[in-house]
Amino acid sequence: MPERVSKKAEKPRVAIIGAGNLASALAVALREARYVIDEIVSREGAASLRKARPLAHEVGATAVTTSRAQLRAELVWFCVPDGAIAGAADAIKDATDWSGKVALHSSGALTSDELAELRRRGASVASVHPLMTFVRESRPPLAGVPFAIEGDQRAVRAVRGIVRDLHGQPFSLRKKEKEAYHAWGMFVSPLLTALLAVSERVAGAAGVRRSAARKRMLPILRQTLENYAALSARASFSGPIARGDVETVSAHLKALRVVPKAREVYLALAQAALLDLPAKNRVALKKLLKQ
Ligand SMILES: NC(=O)c1ccc[n+]([C@@H]2O[C@H](COP(=O)([O-])OP(=O)(O)OC[C@H]3O[C@@H](n4cnc5c(N)ncnc54)[C@H](OP(=O)(O)O)[C@@H]3O)[C@@H](O)[C@H]2O)c1
Repeated sequence: MPERVSKKAEKPRVAIIGAGNLASALAVALREARYVIDEIVSREGAASLRKARPLAHEVGATAVTTSRAQLRAELVWFCVPDGAIAGAADAIKDATDWSGKVALHSSGALTSDELAELRRRGASVASVHPLMTFVRESRPPLAGVPFAIEGDQRAVRAVRGIVRDLHGQPFSLRKKEKEAYHAWGMFVSPLLTALLAVSERVAGAAGVRRSAARKRMLPILRQTLENYAALSARASFSGPIARGDVETVSAHLKALRVVPKAREVYLALAQAALLDLPAKNRVALKKLLKQ
């Protein structure tokens, strides 16, 4: 049985819906911050329940399917794919009396309105999105991670307290800002990863195999991030655009003709670079990149 939280700590018990990448990192971090995780709720089906069990065991919770969830917890956190949030809320809406409870989801793009059905039933609802990447093979610490929060006042207050207990950085968003906010997040991790994957393909054109390319790219990648962190985008920008070396950029564009999509990515990023970053021979570069 999970231990009870003391009255003094005033920490809500938590039920987590889903047992995927975010749920795993979150449940463990909450447990480490002395939250009681009551239930890990999977969708119906033995395969889903089987995946929920190890996580439940790890955090001292019970693994149950939606139809068997007790939902005694004061706080219910939906960690399911964005498209499944409203359906998961619907599937569980009759499991408990929602008045006084807090219900959260963690979509970066969708607003708290995805949980409108639970709001109608008395819950205070919010969306809370950690600006962090969670994949199967890693559970990053949540300390220092910014959490974008939007929703009803009581839920927002509760979630700010939780984020602080996780040593995260809560900040507020308005509903109308969520899509652009999430597009920003998309640039910072998934599209950055896509850029690295394209980079590996470009390495292939230079006769370097993918596995070797990854290893050889790491020192320059790490230094670029370190420069960016310590300085700024402008102060970290080197290479032929910064130097105004039009002929080199032209040679790159020629070489990239053999690498699918790489030329388009190069052109888009180089054009964007001219908006914000220092460049010599701007006029000639602009003309070259307009293709
Ligand atoms: N991963 C990230 O980097 C990240 C970062 C910030 C925010 N988020 C947000 O976190 C949420 C979850 O993303 P994720 O990456 O953790 O997804 P995920 O790894 O694919 O996990 C989704 C989990 O939800 C379960 N599930 C699906 N439909 C369900 C339902 N109807 N009822 C109960 N459980 C259901 C899945 O179980 P099955 O085994 O049954 O499929 C799985 O355990 C999303 O809203 C996402 O936007 C993710």
